[in-house]
Amino acid sequence: MKQKKHTKKDKKPAYKKTSQKEENKTMANEIKQNGKGFSEAEIAVHWKEEELIYPPSTFVAQANMADPKVYERFSEKKFPECFKEYADMLTWDRYWHTTLDTSNPPFWKWFVGGKLNASYNCVDRHLQQYKNKAALIWVPEPEEESDAVITYQELFVRINEFAALLRDFAGLKTGDRVTFHMPMVPELPVSMLASARLGIIHSEVYGGFSGQACGDRIQDSQSTVLVTIDGYYRSGTLIDHKANADIAVKRAEELGQKIDKVLVWRRHKGQYASKSPMVKGRDFFVDDLLKEFKGARVEPISMPAEAPLFIMYTSGTTGKPKGAQHSTGGYLSYVAGTSKYIQDIHPEAVYLCMADIGWITGHSYIVYGPLALAATSVMYEGVPTFPDAGRPWRIAERLNVNIFHTAPTSIRMLRKAGPNEPAKYNYHFKHMTTVGEPIEPDVWRWYYYEVGKKEAAIVDTWWQTENGGFLCSTIPAIKPMKPGSAGPGMPGIYPVIYDENGKEIERGSGRAGNICIRNPWPGIFQTIWGDPDRFVKTYYEKYCKNKNSKDWRDWPYFAGDGAMEAEDGYFRILGRIDDVINVAGHRLGTKELESACLTVPEVAEAAVVPVVDEVKGRVPVVYIALKPGYENEGEKIAQKIVATIESVIGKIARPKNIYIVPDMPKTRSGKIMRRVLSAISNRFNVGDVTTLANADVVEKIRVLVQGKDKVIVEKAPEDLEHFGEEK
Ligand code: PRX
Repeated sequence: MKQKKHTKKDKKPAYKKTSQKEENKTMANEIKQNGKGFSEAEIAVHWKEEELIYPPSTFVAQANMADPKVYERFSEKKFPECFKEYADMLTWDRYWHTTLDTSNPPFWKWFVGGKLNASYNCVDRHLQQYKNKAALIWVPEPEEESDAVITYQELFVRINEFAALLRDFAGLKTGDRVTFHMPMVPELPVSMLASARLGIIHSEVYGGFSGQACGDRIQDSQSTVLVTIDGYYRSGTLIDHKANADIAVKRAEELGQKIDKVLVWRRHKGQYASKSPMVKGRDFFVDDLLKEFKGARVEPISMPAEAPLFIMYTSGTTGKPKGAQHSTGGYLSYVAGTSKYIQDIHPEAVYLCMADIGWITGHSYIVYGPLALAATSVMYEGVPTFPDAGRPWRIAERLNVNIFHTAPTSIRMLRKAGPNEPAKYNYHFKHMTTVGEPIEPDVWRWYYYEVGKKEAAIVDTWWQTENGGFLCSTIPAIKPMKPGSAGPGMPGIYPVIYDENGKEIERGSGRAGNICIRNPWPGIFQTIWGDPDRFVKTYYEKYCKNKNSKDWRDWPYFAGDGAMEAEDGYFRILGRIDDVINVAGHRLGTKELESACLTVPEVAEAAVVPVVDEVKGRVPVVYIALKPGYENEGEKIAQKIVATIESVIGKIARPKNIYIVPDMPKTRSGKIMRRVLSAISNRFNVGDVTTLANADVVEKIRVLVQGKDKVIVEKAPEDLEHFGEEK
């Protein structure tokens, strides 16, 4: 495709003079005219720059970080020593001797020689000053049920007792892995911090994932103990969660990993909410066992900074989930520092993050970051719109929440269900965060004006499971907000955009490419659990300048996102460049979904592509080719596929549609053309298909999906325009 030449002259009018509506029209016309669509660079030129909005002066006056010199302190000249500023927010048992060890790239080591304990840093060290202050306030989903207010002292007691149980009953020791399959209940942070106290590596699997998905992760991490709960509330229903544990244990065992003990917390002490029986000798109620450990105290084990703290699984382009292994010292320093400067968390803060602890956001910014700073972290059990779209604002009003954190998908959902709800409640946020996916400027404005009542500074934080904490964001008291843009690199994070061939795209040029981070930082994950080769290959190989070099400058981190940098140094994230779908702010591997479909015996081939969804951002659509002889059973098979996806991965992956097609569009070498299926699903132009082995099937599929009417060409969202392209 011919690229338009960019000069400053032709860029300016597109930024300044054209409205977004006009641009979309022009773009659609041009797509129609040339029939080929735009290159990423051209899209960027058509991107309308939003107006800057400055934080309220009341916010600036009280902010933890309002000194613009922070960027200089964290400049490349001061790297890596600049990160001492974050590490010094923690209490170290032994101070480190080497800030960054680069002797084995890209396996960076931070704060080498240092020793500390994460549980101690999040709880014990606050007791003297804050023992009677709320550490966690848990809000159950049923509104008639009372909140649980857990003070730092109470949290300390619970962590110690559960740590004693893990050690003395479950037989776990430093370095072992333990899997949690827990929803949003306070027993989850208790379990995490009890493990951390002993240096046991925890691996929390998102509660909404299926038993089978949990089993796969148990096997990968070689855990011998599973911690779960009997049930929890979701949209007014008490879910039978223990049933998943049985499936998980069975699945792990089939894969060769035996679970010795299943520790079952109970949602209501003494009552069992599940229909699945407890297995004798394997399953134990935690509340029963804890009676034995009343008053137990467990010394926090002093861990090397480099000891793994936890594993968090994330989706990749191949089926197998990747266990992102995070360190103790580097990770905790990074989340403490970013919670303080970017989230503006003070010990007096009442902070509500509506993410789930089963995702990295919850680990970093519900548990470890806020607790390291002695804040009050509010956890909500259920669905944000239950029983109505006023729920989060009622919680905020009652608990006097002053910092709020959520994802665009929830913001869209809350806006759709209750656009005028926030105004009905008397709460005041000083600060709000958005995370997980690009936020449309229009949605951003609702968040700012309606939810934040124009009183709050907003940060749009771009980062990933692998990163531990934020990579791009504004510092809220220093930089103005720009709707739809994450902002500049964080202090000490030096982003760069490369083209496919490794050539650096001119800074501030507004041209899109692959965003990378030039330097290591303390929150970066250490490796993929059990698969260092895949770690190097996935994140460092593409843009490595010299494999033999021990200089970090030769090893940029490849994030896998498309992005552009505007003249003012703000980055706008365009979405994933690999075959991963971002559903409600979380990554799902298309290959993982496809493998699930292929377990249905009637299915010959499966292809999964993302489509735009008003609320969730992107959702999967499934294309299926059946084995001969099953053509007439389409509907029944589609239902089977939905059930299979839900049981293999979880409800989060439920497809929007399933299309049974006569044949998949294929290249001559037999590769399924997901790009074509994505274009059809999203009503983009399918482009040139003449090189396909079976070009005639494309129109058949188009009619099946879109009906006979001609394609309506709309502006393709940037992340979807290149989905499934051969690389
Ligand atoms: O594509 C980016 C998108 O979410 C991906 C990371 O997903 P996950 O590892 O599940 O972590 C989500 C929460 C940290 C990224 O590769 N993403 C995350 N934050 C943003 C974003 N896209 C645009 N803007 C963001 N603020």
